[in-house]
Amino acid sequence: MKILTALLLLAVAVHAADLIEHARAHADGKAAFSFDASAWSDAEATRHLPIGVFDSGIGGLTVLEALLTLDAFHNDTLQPGADGVPDFAQERFIYLGDQANMPYGNYSAVNRTDYLRELIVKDAVFLLGRRTWTAAGTEPQFNKPPVKAIVIACNTATAYGLEDIRKAVAAWKVPVIVVGVVEAGARGVLESKVTGGIGVLATVGTCASKVYPRTIASTLGRAGQSVPVIAQQGSATLAGAIEGDAAFPDSVAVYALKEARALTEAYRAEKPTAPLQTIVLGCTHYPLAKEEIDTAFTALRQDAALHDLIAEHRTFVNPAEATARELFRELAQSKLRLKPGEVCTLEHGLFYLSVPRVEEVGIQLSGDGSLDKDYKYSRSPGQLDFEDTKNVPLTPALIPANSAKLVKERLPAVWKALSR
Ligand code: DGL
Repeated sequence: MKILTALLLLAVAVHAADLIEHARAHADGKAAFSFDASAWSDAEATRHLPIGVFDSGIGGLTVLEALLTLDAFHNDTLQPGADGVPDFAQERFIYLGDQANMPYGNYSAVNRTDYLRELIVKDAVFLLGRRTWTAAGTEPQFNKPPVKAIVIACNTATAYGLEDIRKAVAAWKVPVIVVGVVEAGARGVLESKVTGGIGVLATVGTCASKVYPRTIASTLGRAGQSVPVIAQQGSATLAGAIEGDAAFPDSVAVYALKEARALTEAYRAEKPTAPLQTIVLGCTHYPLAKEEIDTAFTALRQDAALHDLIAEHRTFVNPAEATARELFRELAQSKLRLKPGEVCTLEHGLFYLSVPRVEEVGIQLSGDGSLDKDYKYSRSPGQLDFEDTKNVPLTPALIPANSAKLVKERLPAVWKALSR
């Protein structure tokens, strides 16, 4: 068994391996970046644990909305089809947004994916553990339950961290399932059964990893389908603009048009013979701007030079919905799903957000109290007794006004859960 674990560790990036070893060495879960390894010893109790969901920030709440509202299966028979009852009605969710360390999509551009990978495994460790902080507290608390499943709601985190988390969970021998948005999104492409070319809109980091073209091609290939032209466009602005970040002063429609044009040009460069038909919304925020993105393609199609490159009616793949369906299937398959009438140990969902831990020596902040940008992107992995951020309860008041408006208007199930 030891040999198997050693082999698993060898297969993981060296930095994630440090963290895996660290968590194993602190099996009571009291130290930073560790969890109580005995939490899953009773299989029946495990089934009643909540489900963890994490993202680099609040964008992943689009995935949580899909999880809270999905009705694609009959809850009694597990057969496909709506039955008027949300598919996860019995389950409870714990959400983490690593807002202090975001955007995850920009670490690759400064060659810091090593640190990003460690951050992503730390997110999983948080969900597995009981250790949390209060906004004003200087000592951690041990008041949150562990989880039975981890949903990586962030495309960039899935691109860089899915394999590390799966290997970590296997090395720790924790019976927790791990679902990422990219595999689900690729399955969404397969299920949409469209012909024509595929375009992926995502962050710069997600595109640099090439995870979507690779996963879509292997998913279609495994299903015996030919792989059409797949083009991608990475944006450093659209997610921020959707959140209402003041650094991006133009309207979402303006940024969407810029990215749609760039994607169409990238598609043209592949010398396609069919028009661009399927658009993958490969960033947590983009489902919130689907209309603006579709309108942008309609406008571009008026241009004679672009007309034949863009299908008249586009099909949008929202990996959030596909992820919710994937989680349902995985939970059922692993016999971890709560049945009608059963209840989770957690009465209601919990939300956490990372904030700078200002008392940590050496931390550098910017004027608005967030982590200084240069400091944020120059950190190295392996400092596992150093906590420059802490995960505190997320309340509506902690969400910036623009983002709060967006959540309230577009994600009503999440807003209701957050405001209780
Ligand atoms: N959540 C990220 C994603 O889906 C977008 C925001 C970020 O770059 O952190 O890729």
